Amino acid sequence: MAARLWSWVDSRMPSLKQEWRKHAAEYYAPKNFNFWYFFGSLALLVLVIQIVSGIFLTMNYKPDANLAFGSIDYIMRDVPGGWIIRYIHSTGASAFFIVVYLHMFRAMLYGSHREPRELVWIFGMLIYLTLMGEAFFGYLLPWGQMSYWGAQVIVNLFGTVPFIGPDLALWIRGDYVVSDATLNRFFALHVIAFPLVLLGLVVVHLLALHDVGSNNPDGVDIKKYQDASGHPLDGIPFHPYYTVKDLMGAVAFLGIFCFVMFFIPEVGGYFLEYNNFIPADPLKTPQHIAPVWYFTPYYSVLRAVPPLFHSQFPGVLAMGAAVLILFFLPWLDRSPVRSIRYRGPYYKSALAVFVVAFLILGYLGTESTTVWGQFGFDAFFLDTKDRATWLARLCTVVYFLFFILMPWYTGRDEVKPVPERVTH
Ligand code: HEM
Repeated sequence: MAARLWSWVDSRMPSLKQEWRKHAAEYYAPKNFNFWYFFGSLALLVLVIQIVSGIFLTMNYKPDANLAFGSIDYIMRDVPGGWIIRYIHSTGASAFFIVVYLHMFRAMLYGSHREPRELVWIFGMLIYLTLMGEAFFGYLLPWGQMSYWGAQVIVNLFGTVPFIGPDLALWIRGDYVVSDATLNRFFALHVIAFPLVLLGLVVVHLLALHDVGSNNPDGVDIKKYQDASGHPLDGIPFHPYYTVKDLMGAVAFLGIFCFVMFFIPEVGGYFLEYNNFIPADPLKTPQHIAPVWYFTPYYSVLRAVPPLFHSQFPGVLAMGAAVLILFFLPWLDRSPVRSIRYRGPYYKSALAVFVVAFLILGYLGTESTTVWGQFGFDAFFLDTKDRATWLARLCTVVYFLFFILMPWYTGRDEVKPVPERVTH
């Protein structure tokens, strides 16, 4: 039956089989994919999870400033299975960023952004920016204190742009403060505009990748050595080999995902902030406003840069630059080798220091700037607030130096000889 149905479809739409062959059954991927290669397919899985759970949330959510907070409560308490759908979506948001950060880090480990995969990286960066927008718009929807004041802070940042700033902020909000008009447009952007863009970008990301072929942990070009039928000697068909491997990754991932979702959905205030269980109150600013953890490294950069003539614009510029500089990675990296396995000590130590700086920035961004006092570091000569700020400044400098000095240290690094073929 299945074979007959397939041949019926095939005779009417042969392109379906051709595409399946091109992107799965006859897509030859390097045979040495490791742990780090799970995260592309996991990002796809989380994308599907978010879209499906999002559709079900939308069925009961009310994009109205008077009703939004209550409708989330209604979903959590009264809608059958509603709490699961909501926790899937809130856990999925953080999981998306964890998976994408690891996916990007893999590129930095194995030089996946290097020639000829620059476009794959550029499309990836556009996905990353879109994802940030998507998460930001989604966060306003529960209309809690953090939703409200987080949006207020971020939209006000646009207000610091010289000349056009105030008009720009007004245009984004659709009002003089974050209001019902803002909620309505953020809802439209979150449920339809940005998901569409995201899906389109993921398609071109994969098309660009499949045109040039995947990189691998050795960073060697597998197309050099081919068998009589023209298939790479070090390649294996994506299906069934990697569909099965990715399935295993997906099961492990879903195990962890379910554990978080069922046992610790708030993750100590990191996945769902406690202040967001309080309805939005435009007359009462929370004492400490912090974005969700995935934005905090950039939030720290923003806070680390001092204002100029009472304007926060330099910080906003630095924050924007911290994200945008990633676009240039393929051209900043001048190493003759791709993979970290054959790179020298300069890149290895620079990457390690960069990761530590990024994590510290992320941590500092979640806390108020007085946090260091809580750990008993008061003996230092600076007061506690200053110490956290200076640490954030140091890490911001390290963050930027990693990129700015990259052409210099990658060009001078002592690299090891790269094998002709995949090593194991
Ligand atoms: C929704 C988000 C994303 C999805 C669904 C996605 C999906 C994928 C998939 C399925 C692959 C092939 C499998 C693999 O190499 O792991 C891949 C490869 C790749 N992605 Fe993404 N990706 C996403 C975001 C990003 C981002 C944000 C970046 C970087 C800024 C990026 C950069 C890359 C690179 C450089 C490769 C090639 C890896 C290699 O061949 O070694 N991706 N992506």
